Amino acid sequence: MDNLLETAVHGNIGLITLNRPKVLNALNRQMIREIAETLEEFDRRDDVRVTVLTGSGRAFAAGADIDEMANEDSVRMELLNQFVDWDRITVIKKPIIGAVHGFALGGGFELALACDLLFAADTAKFGFPEVNLGVMPGAGGTQRLTKLMGKTKALEYIWTGETMTAQEAERFGVVNRLFAPELLIEETMKFAARLSEKAPLSIRLSKEAVYKALDYSVYEGMQFERKNFSLLFSSEDQKEGMSAFQEKRRPSFKGK
Ligand code: CAA
Repeated sequence: MDNLLETAVHGNIGLITLNRPKVLNALNRQMIREIAETLEEFDRRDDVRVTVLTGSGRAFAAGADIDEMANEDSVRMELLNQFVDWDRITVIKKPIIGAVHGFALGGGFELALACDLLFAADTAKFGFPEVNLGVMPGAGGTQRLTKLMGKTKALEYIWTGETMTAQEAERFGVVNRLFAPELLIEETMKFAARLSEKAPLSIRLSKEAVYKALDYSVYEGMQFERKNFSLLFSSEDQKEGMSAFQEKRRPSFKGK
């Protein structure tokens, strides 16, 4: 059997490439489990500071694997508890950058939305076609898209199943930056390399604090932020960063 994922580490960047190009990287359960396992492994490795997630062939991912789901019933879905592997992605501590070209549909769009930052080819297409299959987004789409673009626009896309262009996705704040397709991976890796030079603990604890903003009141979120801010003063990198500023040199961060 072909590997469902290709994984590699370039410098301090972990790269995960979805590898079922013949079915446009349709996400079967095993693939999601392997993505979660690889992200957890990268989270534990000292040499990986940022992960880039992309797809091989002509899509990022055209959704959950319809062939795997077509004959399921709801009791089996409940017992499978398959979304637990999606939850594992939610608690990854290091930055995940999605690089989307071609289709990011259904579960593929949800996987893109589970990334912290999203870069896309200017020809990429996003959408939730579940409404045409008699189902609905099930891996976070109704929640994450609504938080990003607001109820009215999110419902429009979820109800119509219509495709969102890369330009619309950027305008709605779903995507950070757009590139010509041939430059997407190169530019994403360059950005990831720049991010990997920043203090890793600062990146990690600010990621945690920013996500709290989605659920907490401003006051509660600020209490959380303050604790993480104070925590960083126990790190070697805080000493290094502030000394480097005073000594007018570039800091060299160790992630400790
Ligand atoms: N599951 C399984 N197989 C898929 C698939 C999917 N989600 N998406 C594409 N494929 C397969 C096709 O069946 C086809 O296989 P064969 O060559 O064996 O026929 C192959 O990938 C290539 O696809 P097409 O020939 O259809 O390519 P196209 O360029 O004509 O169309 C497309 C591209 C518009 C993306 C079309 O493939 C499509 O509509 N795919 C399904 C999209 C979809 O409905 N996704 C949502 C899934 S449900 C979900 O994700 C639930 C959730 O929230 C968790």
